[in-house]
Amino acid sequence: MVATQERLTSFAHGGGCACKIPPGELEEAVKGLTGQSGPDVLVGLDDGDDASAVRVREDLAVLSTADFFTPVVDDAYDWGRIAAANALSDIYAMGGTPVTAINLVGWPREKLPMELLTEVLRGGLDVAAQAKCPVAGGHSIDDPEPKYGMAVTGIAHPDELIRNDAAEVGLPLTLTKPIGVGILNNRHKQTGEYFGEAVATMTELNADAARAAVAAGVKAATDVTGFGLLGHLFKMCRASGVGAVIDAAAVPRLGGVDESIASGYVSGGTRRNLDWVRPNLTTEGSVSEDELFLLADAQTSGGLLVVGEIPGHPVIGEITVGSGVHVR
Ligand code: CO
Ligand code: CO
Repeated sequence: MVATQERLTSFAHGGGCACKIPPGELEEAVKGLTGQSGPDVLVGLDDGDDASAVRVREDLAVLSTADFFTPVVDDAYDWGRIAAANALSDIYAMGGTPVTAINLVGWPREKLPMELLTEVLRGGLDVAAQAKCPVAGGHSIDDPEPKYGMAVTGIAHPDELIRNDAAEVGLPLTLTKPIGVGILNNRHKQTGEYFGEAVATMTELNADAARAAVAAGVKAATDVTGFGLLGHLFKMCRASGVGAVIDAAAVPRLGGVDESIASGYVSGGTRRNLDWVRPNLTTEGSVSEDELFLLADAQTSGGLLVVGEIPGHPVIGEITVGSGVHVR
Protein backbone atom coordinates (compact mmCIF):
# COMPACT_ATOMS: atom_id res chain seq x y z
CA MET A 1 0.00 0.00 0.00
CA VAL A 2 1.24 3.52 -0.83
CA ALA A 3 1.48 5.79 2.22
CA THR A 4 -0.46 9.03 2.11
CA GLN A 5 -0.87 11.96 4.46
CA GLU A 6 -4.64 11.86 4.61
CA ARG A 7 -7.14 9.01 4.58
CA LEU A 8 -8.68 8.47 1.17
CA THR A 9 -12.27 8.60 2.47
CA SER A 10 -11.61 12.08 3.92
CA PHE A 11 -11.60 13.39 0.33
CA ALA A 12 -15.20 12.25 -0.23
CA HIS A 13 -17.79 14.90 0.66
CA GLY A 14 -20.57 12.35 1.33
CA GLY A 15 -21.05 10.06 4.29
CA GLY A 16 -20.20 6.65 2.89
CA CYS A 17 -23.21 6.70 0.61
CA ALA A 18 -21.17 6.74 -2.58
CA CYS A 19 -22.58 10.25 -3.11
CA LYS A 20 -25.45 9.29 -5.38
CA ILE A 21 -27.96 12.01 -6.30
CA PRO A 22 -31.15 11.28 -4.28
CA PRO A 23 -33.72 9.25 -6.28
CA GLY A 24 -36.48 11.90 -6.25
CA GLU A 25 -34.17 14.68 -7.46
CA LEU A 26 -32.74 12.52 -10.22
CA GLU A 27 -36.17 11.52 -11.51
CA GLU A 28 -37.21 15.18 -11.55
CA ALA A 29 -34.09 16.11 -13.53
CA VAL A 30 -34.54 13.48 -16.24
CA LYS A 31 -38.31 13.82 -16.45
CA GLY A 32 -39.35 14.46 -20.05
CA LEU A 33 -36.00 13.29 -21.39
CA THR A 34 -37.29 9.78 -22.08
CA GLY A 35 -38.25 8.59 -25.51
CA GLN A 36 -34.85 7.57 -26.87
CA SER A 37 -36.73 4.67 -28.31
CA GLY A 38 -37.04 2.70 -31.49
CA PRO A 39 -37.84 -0.89 -32.32
CA ASP A 40 -34.34 -2.04 -31.38
CA VAL A 41 -34.10 -0.22 -28.05
CA LEU A 42 -35.11 -3.16 -25.86
CA VAL A 43 -34.43 -1.34 -22.58
CA GLY A 44 -34.21 2.45 -22.58
CA LEU A 45 -34.35 5.25 -20.05
CA ASP A 46 -38.09 4.95 -19.36
CA ASP A 47 -38.10 2.60 -16.38
CA GLY A 48 -34.71 3.39 -14.87
CA ASP A 49 -33.27 -0.07 -15.51
CA ASP A 50 -29.66 -0.99 -14.67
CA ALA A 51 -28.29 -0.76 -18.20
CA SER A 52 -29.60 0.04 -21.65
CA ALA A 53 -30.08 -2.79 -24.14
CA VAL A 54 -30.08 -2.33 -27.89
CA ARG A 55 -30.66 -5.15 -30.37
CA VAL A 56 -27.94 -5.18 -33.01
CA ARG A 57 -28.80 -8.59 -34.46
CA GLU A 58 -31.72 -11.01 -34.10
CA ASP A 59 -29.84 -13.00 -31.43
CA LEU A 60 -27.66 -10.27 -29.90
CA ALA A 61 -28.30 -7.27 -27.65
CA VAL A 62 -25.57 -4.82 -26.62
CA LEU A 63 -25.79 -3.56 -23.03
CA SER A 64 -24.26 -0.28 -21.89
CA THR A 65 -23.79 1.20 -18.42
CA ALA A 66 -21.45 3.43 -16.40
CA ASP A 67 -20.87 3.87 -12.69
CA PHE A 68 -18.32 5.84 -10.67
CA PHE A 69 -18.07 7.26 -7.16
CA THR A 70 -15.89 8.86 -4.51
CA PRO A 71 -13.74 6.72 -2.14
CA VAL A 72 -15.87 4.40 0.03
CA VAL A 73 -12.84 2.85 1.80
CA ASP A 74 -9.35 4.12 2.64
CA ASP A 75 -7.43 1.36 0.89
CA ALA A 76 -6.86 2.45 -2.73
CA TYR A 77 -6.63 -1.07 -4.15
CA ASP A 78 -9.85 -2.15 -2.39
CA TRP A 79 -11.64 0.98 -3.61
CA GLY A 80 -10.61 0.14 -7.18
CA ARG A 81 -11.86 -3.42 -6.82
CA ILE A 82 -15.18 -2.28 -5.31
CA ALA A 83 -15.78 0.36 -8.01
CA ALA A 84 -15.11 -2.15 -10.80
CA ALA A 85 -17.32 -4.88 -9.28
CA ASN A 86 -20.05 -2.27 -8.89
CA ALA A 87 -19.79 -1.03 -12.49
CA LEU A 88 -19.81 -4.57 -13.88
CA SER A 89 -22.83 -5.42 -11.72
CA ASP A 90 -25.32 -3.50 -13.86
CA ILE A 91 -24.47 -5.80 -16.79
CA TYR A 92 -25.00 -8.88 -14.59
CA ALA A 93 -28.27 -7.41 -13.27
CA MET A 94 -29.58 -7.52 -16.88
CA GLY A 95 -28.55 -11.15 -17.27
CA GLY A 96 -25.66 -10.11 -19.51
CA THR A 97 -21.96 -10.85 -19.92
CA PRO A 98 -19.47 -7.96 -19.83
CA VAL A 99 -17.20 -7.81 -22.88
CA THR A 100 -15.23 -4.57 -22.56
CA ALA A 101 -14.79 -1.68 -20.11
CA ILE A 102 -13.08 1.70 -19.91
CA ASN A 103 -11.92 3.55 -16.79
CA LEU A 104 -13.46 6.83 -15.60
CA VAL A 105 -11.15 8.77 -13.27
CA GLY A 106 -11.16 12.07 -11.37
CA TRP A 107 -7.93 12.68 -9.46
CA PRO A 108 -6.61 15.56 -7.27
CA ARG A 109 -3.13 15.35 -8.80
CA GLU A 110 -1.69 18.05 -6.54
CA LYS A 111 -2.98 16.47 -3.33
CA LEU A 112 -2.69 12.72 -3.86
CA PRO A 113 0.30 10.82 -5.30
CA MET A 114 -0.11 9.25 -8.72
CA GLU A 115 1.18 5.97 -7.24
CA LEU A 116 -2.06 5.82 -5.29
CA LEU A 117 -4.04 6.15 -8.52
CA THR A 118 -2.02 3.24 -9.89
CA GLU A 119 -3.23 1.17 -6.91
CA VAL A 120 -6.86 2.13 -7.62
CA LEU A 121 -6.54 1.18 -11.29
CA ARG A 122 -4.74 -2.06 -10.40
CA GLY A 123 -7.71 -3.01 -8.21
CA GLY A 124 -10.13 -2.26 -11.03
CA LEU A 125 -8.07 -4.29 -13.51
CA ASP A 126 -7.87 -7.30 -11.19
CA VAL A 127 -11.65 -7.47 -10.78
CA ALA A 128 -12.25 -6.91 -14.50
CA ALA A 129 -9.81 -9.76 -15.19
CA GLN A 130 -11.89 -12.01 -12.90
CA ALA A 131 -14.89 -11.04 -15.02
CA LYS A 132 -12.81 -11.84 -18.16
CA CYS A 133 -13.55 -8.27 -19.28
CA PRO A 134 -10.68 -6.37 -20.95
CA VAL A 135 -10.20 -2.76 -19.79
CA ALA A 136 -9.13 -0.78 -22.83
CA GLY A 137 -8.31 2.82 -21.92
CA GLY A 138 -10.59 5.40 -20.39
CA HIS A 139 -10.78 9.05 -19.48
CA SER A 140 -9.33 11.03 -16.57
CA ILE A 141 -9.62 14.60 -15.30
CA ASP A 142 -7.94 16.67 -12.59
CA ASP A 143 -10.59 16.81 -9.87
CA PRO A 144 -10.51 18.11 -6.26
CA GLU A 145 -12.43 15.00 -5.21
CA PRO A 146 -11.13 11.58 -6.29
CA LYS A 147 -13.61 9.55 -8.32
CA TYR A 148 -13.31 6.17 -9.96
CA GLY A 149 -15.48 3.78 -11.91
CA MET A 150 -16.03 2.27 -15.33
CA ALA A 151 -18.23 2.38 -18.37
CA VAL A 152 -18.99 -1.23 -19.26
CA THR A 153 -20.33 -2.78 -22.44
CA GLY A 154 -21.93 -6.20 -22.30
CA ILE A 155 -23.92 -8.63 -24.42
CA ALA A 156 -27.00 -10.79 -23.90
CA HIS A 157 -29.48 -12.76 -25.95
CA PRO A 158 -32.53 -10.50 -26.44
CA ASP A 159 -34.85 -13.29 -25.21
CA GLU A 160 -32.86 -13.76 -21.99
CA LEU A 161 -32.71 -10.14 -20.84
CA ILE A 162 -33.53 -9.69 -17.16
CA ARG A 163 -35.43 -6.45 -16.67
CA ASN A 164 -36.82 -4.39 -13.81
CA ASP A 165 -40.31 -4.09 -15.34
CA ALA A 166 -41.11 -7.81 -15.59
CA ALA A 167 -41.81 -8.81 -11.96
CA GLU A 168 -44.80 -11.18 -11.71
CA VAL A 169 -47.27 -11.59 -8.86
CA GLY A 170 -46.72 -14.64 -6.68
CA LEU A 171 -43.02 -15.12 -7.40
CA PRO A 172 -40.48 -15.15 -4.54
CA LEU A 173 -37.82 -12.47 -4.05
CA THR A 174 -34.22 -13.62 -3.58
CA LEU A 175 -31.30 -11.47 -2.40
CA THR A 176 -27.78 -12.67 -3.23
CA LYS A 177 -25.63 -10.53 -0.87
CA PRO A 178 -26.08 -9.32 2.72
CA ILE A 179 -26.91 -5.63 3.19
CA GLY A 180 -25.50 -2.96 5.51
CA VAL A 181 -22.33 -1.90 3.65
CA GLY A 182 -23.46 1.74 3.53
CA ILE A 183 -23.70 1.88 7.31
CA LEU A 184 -20.37 0.10 7.81
CA ASN A 185 -18.64 2.27 5.17
CA ASN A 186 -19.95 5.36 6.96
CA ARG A 187 -18.56 4.04 10.25
CA HIS A 188 -15.23 3.23 8.53
CA LYS A 189 -15.05 6.79 7.17
CA GLN A 190 -15.73 8.24 10.62
CA THR A 191 -13.60 5.93 12.78
CA GLY A 192 -11.09 4.21 10.49
CA GLU A 193 -12.27 0.77 11.69
CA TYR A 194 -11.86 -1.91 9.02
CA PHE A 195 -14.78 -4.18 8.08
CA GLY A 196 -13.37 -7.14 6.17
CA GLU A 197 -16.69 -8.88 5.56
CA ALA A 198 -18.07 -5.70 3.97
CA VAL A 199 -15.03 -5.35 1.68
CA ALA A 200 -15.31 -9.03 0.71
CA THR A 201 -18.96 -8.68 -0.29
CA MET A 202 -18.41 -5.40 -2.18
CA THR A 203 -15.53 -6.84 -4.24
CA GLU A 204 -17.44 -10.01 -5.12
CA LEU A 205 -18.79 -10.16 -8.68
CA ASN A 206 -22.49 -10.82 -9.28
CA ALA A 207 -21.45 -13.07 -12.20
CA ASP A 208 -22.43 -16.44 -10.69
CA ALA A 209 -25.75 -15.11 -9.38
CA ALA A 210 -26.53 -13.71 -12.85
CA ARG A 211 -25.68 -16.98 -14.57
CA ALA A 212 -27.88 -18.87 -12.12
CA ALA A 213 -30.73 -16.42 -12.71
CA VAL A 214 -30.53 -16.79 -16.49
CA ALA A 215 -30.35 -20.58 -16.15
CA ALA A 216 -33.45 -20.51 -13.94
CA GLY A 217 -35.36 -18.52 -16.58
CA VAL A 218 -35.65 -15.43 -14.37
CA LYS A 219 -37.34 -12.49 -16.11
CA ALA A 220 -36.93 -9.70 -13.54
CA ALA A 221 -34.08 -8.57 -11.27
CA THR A 222 -32.07 -5.52 -10.34
CA ASP A 223 -28.92 -4.96 -8.33
CA VAL A 224 -29.15 -3.30 -4.92
CA THR A 225 -27.00 -0.18 -4.94
CA GLY A 226 -27.36 3.48 -3.99
CA PHE A 227 -31.15 3.56 -3.46
CA GLY A 228 -31.03 0.64 -1.02
CA LEU A 229 -33.06 -2.58 -0.96
CA LEU A 230 -36.36 -0.73 -0.43
CA GLY A 231 -35.61 1.87 -3.09
CA HIS A 232 -34.60 -0.60 -5.79
CA LEU A 233 -37.47 -2.94 -4.91
CA PHE A 234 -39.94 -0.07 -5.10
CA LYS A 235 -38.55 0.99 -8.50
CA MET A 236 -38.95 -2.58 -9.77
CA CYS A 237 -42.51 -2.83 -8.40
CA ARG A 238 -43.52 0.51 -9.88
CA ALA A 239 -42.08 -0.38 -13.30
CA SER A 240 -43.83 -3.78 -13.21
CA GLY A 241 -47.19 -2.58 -11.84
CA VAL A 242 -47.03 -4.86 -8.80
CA GLY A 243 -46.45 -4.71 -5.04
CA ALA A 244 -44.08 -6.64 -2.78
CA VAL A 245 -43.80 -7.90 0.75
CA ILE A 246 -40.47 -8.22 2.61
CA ASP A 247 -39.86 -10.45 5.62
CA ALA A 248 -37.42 -8.24 7.53
CA ALA A 249 -36.01 -11.13 9.57
CA ALA A 250 -35.13 -13.07 6.42
CA VAL A 251 -32.97 -10.30 4.94
CA PRO A 252 -29.27 -11.22 5.29
CA ARG A 253 -27.18 -8.55 7.01
CA LEU A 254 -23.48 -8.01 7.67
CA GLY A 255 -22.10 -8.59 11.16
CA GLY A 256 -21.93 -5.48 13.34
CA VAL A 257 -24.50 -3.59 11.34
CA ASP A 258 -27.33 -3.59 13.90
CA GLU A 259 -25.19 -2.03 16.64
CA SER A 260 -23.75 0.43 14.10
CA ILE A 261 -27.29 1.65 13.35
CA ALA A 262 -28.02 1.93 17.07
CA SER A 263 -24.79 3.95 17.45
CA GLY A 264 -25.93 6.44 14.82
CA TYR A 265 -23.85 5.51 11.74
CA VAL A 266 -26.77 5.89 9.32
CA SER A 267 -25.71 8.06 6.36
CA GLY A 268 -27.67 10.98 4.94
CA GLY A 269 -28.13 9.05 1.69
CA THR A 270 -29.82 6.19 3.53
CA ARG A 271 -32.14 8.61 5.35
CA ARG A 272 -33.07 10.23 2.01
CA ASN A 273 -33.76 6.77 0.53
CA LEU A 274 -36.18 5.98 3.35
CA ASP A 275 -37.89 9.37 3.02
CA TRP A 276 -38.32 8.71 -0.69
CA VAL A 277 -39.99 5.28 -0.34
CA ARG A 278 -42.00 6.17 2.79
CA PRO A 279 -45.18 7.26 0.92
CA ASN A 280 -45.24 3.82 -0.72
CA LEU A 281 -44.25 1.83 2.35
CA THR A 282 -46.41 0.04 4.90
CA THR A 283 -45.03 -1.77 7.94
CA GLU A 284 -46.20 -3.96 10.78
CA GLY A 285 -45.83 -2.84 14.38
CA SER A 286 -42.97 -5.25 15.03
CA VAL A 287 -40.74 -3.52 12.45
CA SER A 288 -38.59 -0.82 14.06
CA GLU A 289 -37.31 2.39 12.52
CA ASP A 290 -33.75 1.00 12.82
CA GLU A 291 -34.82 -2.02 10.77
CA LEU A 292 -36.13 0.33 8.07
CA PHE A 293 -32.81 2.20 8.03
CA LEU A 294 -31.09 -1.09 7.31
CA LEU A 295 -33.56 -1.98 4.54
CA ALA A 296 -33.11 1.49 3.00
CA ASP A 297 -29.32 1.52 3.44
CA ALA A 298 -27.48 2.81 0.37
CA GLN A 299 -25.41 -0.12 -0.85
CA THR A 300 -22.21 -0.02 -2.85
CA SER A 301 -21.72 -3.02 -5.15
CA GLY A 302 -24.66 -4.85 -3.56
CA GLY A 303 -26.16 -8.16 -4.60
CA LEU A 304 -28.87 -9.03 -7.09
CA LEU A 305 -32.51 -8.76 -6.05
CA VAL A 306 -34.04 -11.53 -8.13
CA VAL A 307 -37.71 -12.22 -8.81
CA GLY A 308 -37.46 -15.99 -8.59
CA GLU A 309 -35.31 -18.46 -6.70
CA ILE A 310 -31.53 -18.88 -6.94
CA PRO A 311 -30.07 -21.94 -5.24
CA GLY A 312 -27.94 -21.08 -2.21
CA HIS A 313 -29.44 -17.64 -1.58
CA PRO A 314 -32.24 -16.65 0.82
CA VAL A 315 -35.81 -15.83 -0.18
CA ILE A 316 -36.68 -12.53 1.55
CA GLY A 317 -40.26 -11.96 0.41
CA GLU A 318 -42.52 -12.11 -2.61
CA ILE A 319 -44.22 -10.12 -5.34
CA THR A 320 -47.87 -9.33 -4.63
CA VAL A 321 -50.82 -7.64 -6.32
CA GLY A 322 -51.25 -3.93 -5.68
CA SER A 323 -48.48 -1.37 -5.40
CA GLY A 324 -45.82 -0.30 -2.94
CA VAL A 325 -43.77 -2.32 -0.46
CA HIS A 326 -45.00 -3.92 2.75
CA VAL A 327 -42.45 -4.87 5.43
CA ARG A 328 -43.43 -7.45 8.05
CO1 CO B 1 -28.02 -1.16 -10.94
CO1 CO C 1 -25.60 1.75 -11.57
